[in-house]
Amino acid sequence: MVIDNDLKQITQLILEAKEKAHQETSWEPKPEFTQSLKWPINCSIGPGLEGAIVCDTKIGYVNGSKGWLIYQGYDIFDLCAHSSFEEVSYLLFHGSLPTKDELASFKQKLNLYRNIPQTIRQLDSFNIEGMSPMASLRLGSELMRQQKGNLIEEHMQFLYPGISADEDSIPMEKKPIGEEKAIYEFESNEKESTELLDSCYQCIAGLSSIMGAIVRLRSGHLPLEPDPDLGFAANLLYMMSGKKPTPLEERVMDICLILHAEHGINASTFATMVVASTLSDIYFSVGAGIAALNGPLHGGANQQVISTLEEIKSVDNVKAWYKKLRAENGKVMGFGHRVYKAYDPRARILEPLAKLLVNDKPQMQEMYSIAKSIEAEVMEDMGNEKKIFPNVDFYSGIVYKALGIEPEYYTPIFAVSRVSGWTAHVVEYLKKNRIFRPRAIYVGDYLNEFISIEKRK
Ligand code: ACO
Repeated sequence: MVIDNDLKQITQLILEAKEKAHQETSWEPKPEFTQSLKWPINCSIGPGLEGAIVCDTKIGYVNGSKGWLIYQGYDIFDLCAHSSFEEVSYLLFHGSLPTKDELASFKQKLNLYRNIPQTIRQLDSFNIEGMSPMASLRLGSELMRQQKGNLIEEHMQFLYPGISADEDSIPMEKKPIGEEKAIYEFESNEKESTELLDSCYQCIAGLSSIMGAIVRLRSGHLPLEPDPDLGFAANLLYMMSGKKPTPLEERVMDICLILHAEHGINASTFATMVVASTLSDIYFSVGAGIAALNGPLHGGANQQVISTLEEIKSVDNVKAWYKKLRAENGKVMGFGHRVYKAYDPRARILEPLAKLLVNDKPQMQEMYSIAKSIEAEVMEDMGNEKKIFPNVDFYSGIVYKALGIEPEYYTPIFAVSRVSGWTAHVVEYLKKNRIFRPRAIYVGDYLNEFISIEKRK
């Protein structure tokens, strides 16, 4: 009964957060960047490819000024309130929510692909304790590839046999000429798409088992076998900790996985797509996503949020800490976003969950209060003027900590979830694949006279 109430309360908290978001952001006028793409296009591009359009997609939509996050047409608030990570992953690939039968068969596949004892044995032969968890996860994706063997490479060539053009065969000194001539379009047949999808599912399921094994090996324990009776979120927690989670812990983890599954063409998704666009296989592509996510500008700010909260120690110290940080032009970790210039909807969901979880953890209540107090300071100082709001990383650290997860695992857990978004984008992009190849403006010298090494000064 208590459990049921907890779960109902979570749904209620998310729906309240949705209500608040909708009150604070107007649904009119119609959002930008939702028209179908017709190449070539004109767009203004800033540093870091800001403003560049790389493709059209139905998978995810982030509207930064309104604070919207939509997966395949569904509001993130509704998905978090009512669905599971498995349902959401299915949705990302297939564009519609699964029926009962479809979900059962999808879960069965994930269960099957979670079971990778050979890969885990191989992983165990490396010095996992001496490697960073992200490096180990990337190694794990490569080991999964080895298990699949070279079949995958052959498969990719077979799937897109017509592509022969490498980057140098594309004339670079001319302007883009538009879709008809520029896009290499190959439709795959059903069997081939199924094989690619299966490899994507294997990445999603396999990485969660690898994650579990990494945590176990780093804490001096033997990796555990997946439990086929547990759902994705519960199994991930079980394989990491050795304890079956409570329904509340499972539900919160599930929501965290849903929240991190997709976020448009962010750096790691783009990295994954760039590698896939060369027709490298899905495992190499996922490895690139993991590598990109490892950078502190992308994944990992939540780890730093926790260090900051621990360093501040008490709510009484927040004002002085904030004043000093601002005087030194420092950045508040977990605030601001490249796209969101409104409250990040993911932070709206995580904040009440953090509050709920610290309820029966007195030792963490001060941490939550410090976070709320920092939020108040930042919002007053920069909310209106600079549009700096909490991002997904601000409260996720507190949530993970309350679930008993060590900070070094926050970014790899992000990867375990985001792999569904990465691979869904690859599957969508490969249907109309063209190798990515932007240009640089050459600002160096040219036509220098060659001087032999003996005469160089
Ligand atoms: N604390 C203080 N000031 C900030 C912050 C912050 N967290 N974020 C932005 N600002 C200020 C900048 O100093 C800048 O001020 P100025 O106009 O006086 O120079 C202004 O707001 C605009 O900031 P930009 O850096 O241009 O914002 P941008 O959109 O390029 O950067 C970024 C976004 C990198 C996320 C930045 O906000 C930041 O460093 N935040 C802290 C790190 C963080 O939380 N990262 C996680 C992001 S979420 C994710 O990737 C999953």
